[in-house]
Amino acid sequence: MFRNIRVVTEPDYDAMSRAAAEIFAEALKEKPNGVYGFATGGTPVGMYKELISMAEASEIDFSQVTTFNLDEYHPINPDDPQSYIYFMRQNLFNAVGLKDSQINIPNGTAADPVAECAAYEDKILNAGGIDLQILGIGNNGHIGFNEPSEAFTAQTNYTALTEMTVKANARFFNNADEVPKHAITMGIRSIMLAKRILLLCGGEGKASILHDALLGPITPLVPASILQTHPNVTVVTDKAAAALL
Ligand code: F6R
Repeated sequence: MFRNIRVVTEPDYDAMSRAAAEIFAEALKEKPNGVYGFATGGTPVGMYKELISMAEASEIDFSQVTTFNLDEYHPINPDDPQSYIYFMRQNLFNAVGLKDSQINIPNGTAADPVAECAAYEDKILNAGGIDLQILGIGNNGHIGFNEPSEAFTAQTNYTALTEMTVKANARFFNNADEVPKHAITMGIRSIMLAKRILLLCGGEGKASILHDALLGPITPLVPASILQTHPNVTVVTDKAAAALL
C-alpha cells in the first residue's frame, strides 16, 4: 500500500500485462455495459493482446461497452498510422469487434480544437462518466498529455507537447520533426472523475518517475502524483519499474 494506492508488482512485462488484463476482465464481467477509458503508447499493448485472446476465447465480451480514449494528436488524420485512433483499432478495437458507435476519441482533424475539447468533455459526462480508466505514465510524469506545469489541468484540453514527450514519441515516427506538436487530452479532472484507475508502468526507465508519482509530493510538476488523492487506483508494474518503491 502506498498511501491510497494498491500496487501489484509482477516479475516482468508479460506477467504485468496478464495481471492488468485480468483486473480489466473482472471489471468488464461485472459491468458488461460499462464505460472504459483506454490509453495508447507502448505499455498497454501487452495487456490489449491478452484482452484480445480472452475475447476470442469468449471469456469477455465487448459488445455493450462504451470506450473513451485519453488523447489524440492534433492535427492528425484518423487513417494516419501514427494517429491514436489507428493505434487503438490495430491493437484492440478491430480484434474485439468494437463498432464505431461504441468508440470515442478526440477528433484529430477538428477545425476548432478548443470546441472539440468541450464537446469531448460533454460526451464523457453524458455517458455517465468513466467506470475504469487505463493509464500509462510518461517519463516526465504526464498522464494523458497533461504535461508537468505550474498547475493541474481540469477538463479536456488542447495542449502543446513538451520537448521530452516529442522526443519520447519520435520512436513511433521517422523522426521528431514528424511528431505533431499539439494534442487534445482529457484533463486531470476528467481523469480523476473516473471511478477506478488502472495505471500500467513497466521497465527500469520508469522507476524514478513511478517513485516520484506514488511517493513524492503531490505536485503539478509530476502530474501523475495527483493519483495519490484518488480513492481507487491500482498500479500494475514490473520489478524493474518498482525498483525504487
Ligand atoms: C497515451 C498517453 C500517454 C502514455 C505515456 C506512456 O494515450 O496518454 O500518457 O500513457 O506517454 O507511454 P508509453 O507507454 O509508450 O511509455
